[in-house]
Amino acid sequence: MGETEGYKKDWYKQMSFYQIWVRSFADGNGDGIGDLYGVYDKLEYVKSLGVDGIWFSPVYPSPNADYGYDISDYKDIHPDFGTLDQFKKVLEKAHSLGLKIIMDLVVNHTSDEHPWFKESRKGKDNPYSDYYIWRDEPNNWDSLFEGKAWEYDEQRGQYYLHIFAKKQPDLNMDNPKVREEVESIMRFWLDMGVDGFREDVINFISKKEGLPNGLPFIPAVNGMPHYKDGPHIHEYMAQFRKVCNEYDCFQIGEGPMTTVNSALKYLTGPTKSLDMMISFDHMMADCVYTEYVHRPFSLVKLKKAFSKWQYALAGKAWNSLYLENHDHPRIISRYGSEKYWRESGTMLAASFLFQRGTPFIYQGQEIGMTNIRLRSIHQYVDVSSKTNYHTYHLKEKTSKRMHRIHLSSRDSARTPMQWNDHKYAGFSTVRPWFYVNPNYKMVNVAAEENDKLSILNFYRKCLNLRKHSKALLYGSYKEYYPKDKFIYVYERAYKNIRYLIICSFTSLTLTVRIPTEYEGKKGELVLCNYRGHAGELYRPYECRVYRYKV
Ligand code: GLC
Ligand code: CA
Repeated sequence: MGETEGYKKDWYKQMSFYQIWVRSFADGNGDGIGDLYGVYDKLEYVKSLGVDGIWFSPVYPSPNADYGYDISDYKDIHPDFGTLDQFKKVLEKAHSLGLKIIMDLVVNHTSDEHPWFKESRKGKDNPYSDYYIWRDEPNNWDSLFEGKAWEYDEQRGQYYLHIFAKKQPDLNMDNPKVREEVESIMRFWLDMGVDGFREDVINFISKKEGLPNGLPFIPAVNGMPHYKDGPHIHEYMAQFRKVCNEYDCFQIGEGPMTTVNSALKYLTGPTKSLDMMISFDHMMADCVYTEYVHRPFSLVKLKKAFSKWQYALAGKAWNSLYLENHDHPRIISRYGSEKYWRESGTMLAASFLFQRGTPFIYQGQEIGMTNIRLRSIHQYVDVSSKTNYHTYHLKEKTSKRMHRIHLSSRDSARTPMQWNDHKYAGFSTVRPWFYVNPNYKMVNVAAEENDKLSILNFYRKCLNLRKHSKALLYGSYKEYYPKDKFIYVYERAYKNIRYLIICSFTSLTLTVRIPTEYEGKKGELVLCNYRGHAGELYRPYECRVYRYKV
């Protein structure tokens, strides 16, 4: 394949990943917090899904201002989760099961409790003085999580920059010593045997010289033009790629607000530094750039975003595919229907798993976990949910504002994993650190193991089908009926094999005509989320996968 030229390995193209947010996955030592003992015990389950690797959200020591994304030690394990030895056991067992492990590399910022920051705030003549971005006067940037992007530090007598929460000071990547630290963090984990990194908000690490003011009237993202894809970004990325290239390592970068054109710079040509990028366009089919500005779900918007990336990267670069992660509310509650829970949960799986790219499945997505609806904002723990509640739409009634939280909170993705219908959903033997979704009696792994038509077993079927088909792995992508408001139809083709994937995004029953190219051809129905099918009539949220030999 042309797009792999110059790269030794492209094993990640045939893979799919499972993302684990450890705190809510499985509690192995009975303290109510998910940990690496729980992960160890559940690795066979992960393997049984048919995935080939795991992405761990941060497992490092962290004061949890942003639940792990504020790191106070890059080379250790959070005591809540276990020890480095326990991590090594997980790594070894995962490898023996044929599962790769990728780590979250969060280097745009640290925790304010990281020793570097504790030193840096002591004064200007400190060896760590320039590890962070200090100014006598702040500019007008807002942070994405908590008010202004600058916080005054009494000890240092200056302001520091934080694009995210106050407890997440931005590192000064222009300082070569900071970049050496990043290299050293990478080597630490690669030497231990991990297989790659998911790189957090990596397109934000280089800031424009002089930190100019942003546009005054756009809240939250006003400074973004000055820190997204900044002036030295590709130079710094090349430096990190070099480290990776010494190993058989794989890198996927998170690119908030990234466009196809800017992503292609990271993925192709002389500035190629990443194997894939996590883009966001398709996560905005029911909201405007952040989930606190809602609009009704639009399938046309979703399809446009899907196809834009599929077409633009074709033959040039490789997509990452996802509908959920720890930053987004549950997809059935957004693009599907809780009423048609099983039907829409399975259909949504087929809508993305057969696209061209490497799929990422987030814990609980494979059993159709849905959003939690807590009564009061005080019950939520996520910093961005709290800020959204206390900052935006203040004139609305409490019930309406809570409704927004129910639609948007990242906490919906962070409720304990539902393993069975026992107390606390089998996540723990004691009261968990966060609320269990009350639907666990119905939505849980054990119940779905025993149901042939379950969401869980559908994910398995999809992943298995994908894995064994060149057309689904490498074939070309084409969309049909892009303007249709209810149906998403796409094709994957390789040599004489064609797959047609037909997904209904509505609770209506409707007729779907096969594209004219396919008329009169005999396709084999290889997958359907209902028992038996009814010709051209599609039932609520029905999906089908047909295979043709042409
Ligand atoms: C990324 C992470 C998110 C975190 C943010 C700041 O977007 O996925 O969870 O809050 O970066 O680190
Ligand atoms: Ca525990």
